[in-house]
Amino acid sequence: MNRDDFKILKNDFIFFDNCATTLKPNIVVDETVKYYTEYTSNAHRGDYDNSIKVDTLYEETRTKVRKLINAENDSEIVFTSGATEALNLVVFGFMKYNLKKGDEVFLTKAEHASNVIPWLELANEKGIKIKYIPLDKDHKLDYDKLVKMVSSKTKVISIAHVTNTIGDIRPIEKIGKLCKENNIYFVVDGAQSVPHFRVDVLKNNIDFLAFSAHKMLGPTGVGVLYGKYNLLNEMRPIIFGGGMNNIFESTGEVEYKSVPTRFEAGTPNIAGVIGLNRAIDYINSIGYDAIQSQEKELRKYLIDNLKSIDNIILYNENSDTGIVLFNLKDIFPQDTSVYLNTYHICVRAGNHCAKILKDELGIKNTCRISIYFYNTKEEIDVLIEALKKSKNIFEVVI
Ligand code: ALA
Repeated sequence: MNRDDFKILKNDFIFFDNCATTLKPNIVVDETVKYYTEYTSNAHRGDYDNSIKVDTLYEETRTKVRKLINAENDSEIVFTSGATEALNLVVFGFMKYNLKKGDEVFLTKAEHASNVIPWLELANEKGIKIKYIPLDKDHKLDYDKLVKMVSSKTKVISIAHVTNTIGDIRPIEKIGKLCKENNIYFVVDGAQSVPHFRVDVLKNNIDFLAFSAHKMLGPTGVGVLYGKYNLLNEMRPIIFGGGMNNIFESTGEVEYKSVPTRFEAGTPNIAGVIGLNRAIDYINSIGYDAIQSQEKELRKYLIDNLKSIDNIILYNENSDTGIVLFNLKDIFPQDTSVYLNTYHICVRAGNHCAKILKDELGIKNTCRISIYFYNTKEEIDVLIEALKKSKNIFEVVI
């Protein structure tokens, strides 16, 4: 890849916060600007040239998403405001009507808030039981223990494909098979996987897959919910309004449009969806293989060099992706991130929205480095140098 494809990379900062969001290539920014400066119109509501262009690009994006994740049908792709809304739609549009008191939902303690809180809400409302799949010594999902937990009460397994903290890749092919054999709904949060490698919903028997555009080079405010067609057909909308209905009468009669339109009430984030279209083009032009090989090389280089720092604690050294959690001994993680900012290095510090992971890690807050394919070894060198120098500075401050 060519770093010139990203105008933003000419600026004086090093971006290691790619789990939080990614940088946007010029083709994404340019197409978004073009929508606003050359062909603005609403979607699915006009009969003039600009609106036809918008409709074409909007629906073309659906097809590109479908191909990216190997779904069978464009109707299985719902545009949402992000992975969070997508997961809420699954929980409150589908599970609310398909689970009953005593049914069990399996999560892990490494899940992001958006894959825990909706379930906790539903559990309170309906008396369903949340169970946490144990993690192993490296804080990775323990598949053997998961198998032993499954019973006739198990109705849902809802997990991240890659967690935004430990960065382990879950064995979703095996888990998908387990779900199929036991009649369990399989919900996957793909926010940290779809941007990095090919996720195949058919091969992995995924019932619902949620992910966000902004973590895969696209604009903020757009996400995707994939759902198997028969399940989406059963799902109820959670947002109601224009665009999603065929008729509504003063008598109370309402008829909704077919799937997926009934889940896209109101004016959608059109510029965002069109930006996602170009983000997928960009990912396809680089290729997942190239993305993976660059990330693997960078991860190894990063870990090898971090280990040369004597006051560092690494929490997920044996993990699988470019996500690294660390702390400097006796230093509050936010102090580390503020210090790194003096070198214009962007990392995230805190609990990373995974607030129950502390039960597993035994620590509440960490610093997180998360890389993407446009990062370089030279950037890692700057980070390592800064972390090495930090010892002298923090010794003075403490
Ligand atoms: N979920 C995003 C992160 O991990 C915001 O930082």
